[in-house]
Amino acid sequence: MKQILLTTFLVITVGVNCIEFDAKICDSLPQFDGRLRERIANISTDVQKIIDYVVNGADRGVTYNELAKFVDTFGSRLVGTKNLENAIDYMLDLLKTEGHDNVHGEPCAVPVWTRGKEWAQMNSPRVKPLNILGLGYSVGTNGTVLTGEVVVVKTFDELKNRSNEVKGKFVVYNFDFKGYGESVEYRGRGASEAAKYGAIAALVRSVTPLSINSPHTGMQSYASGVVKIPAVSITVEDAELFGRLAARGVKVNVSLYMEARMEAEGTSRNTVSEIKGTDKPDEVVLVSGHLDSWDVGQGAMDDGGGAFISWRALSVIKKLGLKPKRTLRSVLWTGEEMGLIGVQNYAKEHASELSKMSIAMESDIGTFTPFGISFSGTNTTAQCIVNEVLKALNPINATHMSLGKDGSDIDFLMAAGVPGSSLDNRHETYFYYHHSNGDTMTVEDSHQLDLCTAVWAATSYAFAALDDMLPR
Ligand SMILES: *[C@@H]1O[C@H](CO)[C@@H](O)[C@H](O)[C@H]1NC(C)=O
Ligand SMILES: *[C@@H]1O[C@H](CO)[C@@H](O)[C@H](O)[C@H]1NC(C)=O
Ligand SMILES: *[C@@H]1O[C@H](CO)[C@@H](O)[C@H](O)[C@H]1NC(C)=O
Ligand SMILES: *[C@@H]1O[C@H](CO)[C@@H](O)[C@H](O)[C@H]1NC(C)=O
Ligand SMILES: *[C@@H]1O[C@H](CO)[C@@H](O)[C@H](O)[C@H]1NC(C)=O
Ligand SMILES: *[C@@H]1O[C@H](CO)[C@@H](O)[C@H](O)[C@H]1NC(C)=O
Ligand SMILES: [Zn+2]
Repeated sequence: MKQILLTTFLVITVGVNCIEFDAKICDSLPQFDGRLRERIANISTDVQKIIDYVVNGADRGVTYNELAKFVDTFGSRLVGTKNLENAIDYMLDLLKTEGHDNVHGEPCAVPVWTRGKEWAQMNSPRVKPLNILGLGYSVGTNGTVLTGEVVVVKTFDELKNRSNEVKGKFVVYNFDFKGYGESVEYRGRGASEAAKYGAIAALVRSVTPLSINSPHTGMQSYASGVVKIPAVSITVEDAELFGRLAARGVKVNVSLYMEARMEAEGTSRNTVSEIKGTDKPDEVVLVSGHLDSWDVGQGAMDDGGGAFISWRALSVIKKLGLKPKRTLRSVLWTGEEMGLIGVQNYAKEHASELSKMSIAMESDIGTFTPFGISFSGTNTTAQCIVNEVLKALNPINATHMSLGKDGSDIDFLMAAGVPGSSLDNRHETYFYYHHSNGDTMTVEDSHQLDLCTAVWAATSYAFAALDDMLPR
C-alpha cells in the first residue's frame, strides 16, 4: 500500500522535473542510421493523415461527444460498483461494434469501499456545516456521532511536538500546499499518524491549489498495528478557518458522522481491445487510461479523457485503414483510484509477455492542450526514435519529449523493464477539479481532446509501425 501511494505521487511531476533532451546526440549515433530515419519519415506521412483526420476531418469533435455521452450516462464510476461494470459493458459493446480485435474484459479481484451517508459540522464557536468527503478505505463512525475539540497542525513535525494534546480530539491538517506530491502525504497517512497519539478522527485539508469550498477525496492507507480512525477531507476554506480560530486561542468543537465501510471483495475488469499487428502480432504497443473514477463528479477528467483517447486512438487508426506491424493494444484499467488494482493484476498475468511490449503509454494527468509525451526509456537510440517521431507532430505543436518516469498505472509495467510514456499536456488546472464534484464534462474541451487523440493515435501508431521494438 505504501508503494502504491508512493507511485501515485509520481504522477505529479509530469512536465515539472523533465530532463531536456539534446537531439544533437542522434546525429552521431550509428544505430540511428539512414534506414531508420527513412522509415520514420515514411511513417510520418501516415501521421499527417491521422492529425488531419482527427483535428480537421471527419473525426473532429468525436472524442468529446463520445466522452460526454459516456459520462452523462454513467456518471461517476467507483470500483466495486455495478455502475462501473455497466460502463465497462458499454465500452466492450462499443469496441465490438467498431470491429476491433480481441475485445474482452480481464477480470480481477477488487476492494469494495462504500461511502454511505456522511456529514460534519462545527458546533462551536458557532454552528456551521462542513463540506466533507470521506477518504477511500476510511472507516465510519460506527453509527454514532463523534464530537470533540480540534487540534490544528500544519505538519507531521508539529503533530509530533504536540502529541500530548491530541488524545480524544480531531486532528486537523492545515498544511501549506506545496505541490501535490508533498501535500498528498497528509491525505495518505494523516489518519494513522494522528491515531498513534489517540486522535478520534483526522480532518485533512483538500489537496488542491484552488478551492471554491470544494472537498477533494482520494485514497488513504492505514498503517498496520494502529487503530483505524475516520479519515475525512475538508475544504481549504474550512481548514484555514480552523487554523485562524486556533491561532487566536478559540476552542473549536466539531461533530462527525460517517457510514463508510469496506464490503466483501468484488470483481471488476480491465477493458482490452486491439488492432492485431500484421508482421509481429506478438509484439505490443500499449495505450491506456483508467475507466474507474472516484464516486463524486463524473470522472470526466480523471480519467474519462485519458481512457477515451486510449480507445479512440485505435478507432482512428482503424478508420483510416492503417495497419501497424505490431499489435496496438488499448487497455482501460480498473481500480486505479483504490490503489492501481487492475494494472497489478495485468502485470502479474502478462508477466511473461512484457519483454515483447515495446512501450506502455498512459494518459492520466488531464487531456488539456498537449505539448508532447514523456519517455522513460534510457537507451539513447530509443530516445532518438521517439524524438524523431514527435517531429511529425509539428502541425499541432506537440513535438516535445521530456525524459523521465511519469506514470501511475504504468509504473508496474515500467518496473518490469517496459519503457513508459505519458501524455504531456497543459494540466496546470488539473488539481482544481481532481477527485471532486467539479470533475465533470465542463472541464473538458472538444478541440483539446482532438489534439490529445491525435497525439495518442499518431505516436502509438508510429511505435507500432516501426520495423523493430524500441530498443531498451
Ligand atoms: C519508404 O517509402 C518508400 C516509398 O514507398 C519505399 O520505397 C521505401 O522502401 C520506404 N523505406 C522504408 C525504410 O520503409
Ligand atoms: C468502531 O468499532 C470498531 C470495532 O469495534 C473499532 O475497531 C473502531 O475503532 C470503532 N471506530 C470508531 C470510530 O469508534
Ligand atoms: C462539543 O460541543 C458539544 C455541543 O455543543 C458539547 O455537547 C460537547 O460537550 C462539546 N465537547 C467538547 C469536548 O468540548
Ligand atoms: C518542534 O519542537 C522543537 C523543540 O521545541 C522546535 O524546535 C520545533 O520548531 C518544533 N517544530 C514544529 C514544526 O513545531
Ligand atoms: C508551442 O508549444 C510551446 C511549448 O511546448 C509553447 O511555448 C508555444 O507557445 C506553442 N506555440 C503555439 C503557437 O501554440
Ligand atoms: C541501445 O539500443 C541499441 C539498438 O538495439 C543497441 O545497439 C545499444 O547497445 C543500446 N544501448 C545501450 C546503452 O544499451
Ligand atoms: Zn486518475
